[in-house]
Amino acid sequence: MTLAGKHILLIVSGGIAAYKSITLIRLIQKVGGTVQAILTEGAKQFVSPLTIATLTGRPALSELFDLTRETEIGHIELSRSADLIVVAPATAHILARMANGLADDLATTCLLATITPVLAAPAMNVRMWEAPATRRNMETLRRDGIAFVGPNEGDMACGEFGLGRMAEPEEIFEAIEAHFARSGGPLPLEGKRVVVTSGPTREPIDPVRYISNASSGRQGSAIAEALAARGAIVKFVTGPAEFARPKGCEIIAVETAIEMEAAVSAALPADAAIFTAAVADWRVVEPAGLKLKKDASGTPPEIEFTANPDILASVSRLPGGERPSLVIGFAAETGNLETHARNKLARKGCDWLLANDVSPGTGVFGGTDTRILFLDGPEAEDWGELSKIAVAERLADRIANHFATES
Ligand code: CTP
Repeated sequence: MTLAGKHILLIVSGGIAAYKSITLIRLIQKVGGTVQAILTEGAKQFVSPLTIATLTGRPALSELFDLTRETEIGHIELSRSADLIVVAPATAHILARMANGLADDLATTCLLATITPVLAAPAMNVRMWEAPATRRNMETLRRDGIAFVGPNEGDMACGEFGLGRMAEPEEIFEAIEAHFARSGGPLPLEGKRVVVTSGPTREPIDPVRYISNASSGRQGSAIAEALAARGAIVKFVTGPAEFARPKGCEIIAVETAIEMEAAVSAALPADAAIFTAAVADWRVVEPAGLKLKKDASGTPPEIEFTANPDILASVSRLPGGERPSLVIGFAAETGNLETHARNKLARKGCDWLLANDVSPGTGVFGGTDTRILFLDGPEAEDWGELSKIAVAERLADRIANHFATES
């Protein structure tokens, strides 16, 4: 049991899901973990400090002064003596306070003072979850290294339906276990070589103009980071994108599809290759050496295009010893998702395909969230509405399981 002997600092903030912290405490204790709880003022409206104190066998703390009066230990010691800090539920308000480094109560003071890893389980109304301010705060917290579990889609206490429901205590418990499984012993993808393509390509028309697309590189970058965090040696081949510097990866910057193809070949052999790049399908046959000028009649220039190489298809079709044992493609579609995705999986010859609907209005292309239909041969799984970071985590775990069962 990875959790036996581990000490969890559980911060309960003020949401209706606070009552679920009782189940979470029980689950942790059942496998030999200990819990110190901190309740925000809001949390005390939903769950009684006495219940929590009775369950944990320790005072449920709330105020900074509780520390000196009752236990004589400082907030720094309190946060650092824990093996993991879990914020469940994490309301929009506490996430905002964390993202901005506020320290206006015991909970946020501990969060600011800590060097211990933090796992948060967001819980809020769907509109609050989707609000631009919460999106910004989540982005900041992810960059700060906070790990998240959930939120899930479902019925809410307020009567609405959508994303924002706290992950169930069992799911939070699993995320805690996974955290300790990762932090002890060898990492699950230790030494595996992985190539990830990401971002758009840029196909020149003349020295100042090009054809490209709005790919942000967010998904590819998140996948590369999730793999590197699991011990993989990641070569990240990226077109010019906003998200082009995943932590812990070797970064190979390219512009055109031809350059991307060459960089991928040079990065092989690999155990796995993941193609998230939005490669331009066509390039200009002969980009002009000088800037194209308007002629007197204003007639637009005639530009001849040719097809770019399909990098995913050619890597999928490499002979046995040269082909990565796991080749994963993405599909960006604007309708008939499953049909197109199935055709693409067969046409490209990859092992897995993650399809998402990028129709206008979904906000998927360039956005923070997506909805993946995962194809593994004949099987299709709807992963539901998730952040691209959550997709990256799930895919990286799946890849790790694949290699674990293979060896
Ligand atoms: N891909 C690639 N090289 C290309 C085009 C696509 O490696 N020249 C990869 C992408 O990285 C992605 C997958 O192929 O993993 C599917 O990309 P997508 O743009 O959805 O499909 P297309 O091949 O462009 O097909 P279509 O235009 O029919 O949708």
